Amino acid sequence: MSHIIAPSLLSADFNHLYKDIQLVNESDADWFHVDVMDGVFVPNISFGFPIMKHLKKLATKPLDVHLMIIQPDRYLEEFAKAGADILTVHYEACPHIHRTLQSIRSLGMKAGVAVNPGTPVGMLEDILHDADLFLVMSVNPGFGGQKFIPHTFDKIRQLRSMIEAVESSAMIEVDGGVDLSNYRDLIDSGANAMVAGNAIFGSANPKETITEMKSI
Ligand code: DX5
Ligand code: ZN
Repeated sequence: MSHIIAPSLLSADFNHLYKDIQLVNESDADWFHVDVMDGVFVPNISFGFPIMKHLKKLATKPLDVHLMIIQPDRYLEEFAKAGADILTVHYEACPHIHRTLQSIRSLGMKAGVAVNPGTPVGMLEDILHDADLFLVMSVNPGFGGQKFIPHTFDKIRQLRSMIEAVESSAMIEVDGGVDLSNYRDLIDSGANAMVAGNAIFGSANPKETITEMKSI
C-alpha cells in the first residue's frame, strides 16, 4: 500500500528553518507535519500563526496541522486562513467532536482526529465517516524524540478493521517515535500516513532518510 510521509518540523533546525523547509520541498515527503502546542493540553509550547503563515508561503506541499490545544473550535477559522490543508484536533480536547469535524470540513480543510495513547480507538466508532484522517499517537504528545509505545500496533490494527467494516475512506496516521525500525510493521498494521521528526531531522542525511522510508 502506498503511504504518506509527513516530516515533523518540530525537530527541524529553527536557526535554519528556511533550509529545512526547502529540504522537505525537494524531498520525497508528501506533507509538512506542523505541531501546535498550547502549554495546557500538553506540557510544552511550540509555535503558532506567524510561523505557520511564513511556512505556507514557502511550502510546496500540504500542511498537516496537528493541534495539541484545548478548545480548538476557537481557532479553526484562523488555522484555515493560515493555510492548514489538514486540521487535526484531539479527541480528548473536544466535547463535541462531531460538530468540530463538520466545522473543519465546512472551512474547506480535511478533518482529522487524534487519540492519545491512553484513549481507546473504539471511541471513534461513531465518527468513522466524519473524519478524513485518524491520528494514532504512539507517544504521549508534547515532545519530539520520545520512545515508541508498542501497543500502538494493536490500536492501528483495530482501527483499520473498524474503518474497513464501514467502508470509510479515512486514513490512519501514526505519530511519535516512528523510525526505520518500526516503519514496515506500522504499514503492515494498517497505517498509511507516517509522521517522523527525530528519525528524519536527527539523521545524517534527512533527504535520504525520507527516500529510504518512502521506498519501504
Ligand atoms: C509529539 C508530536 C510529534 C513529534 C514527533 O507531540 O505530535 O509530531 O514531533 O516527533 P518524533 O518523530 O521525534 O517522535
Ligand atoms: Zn504531531
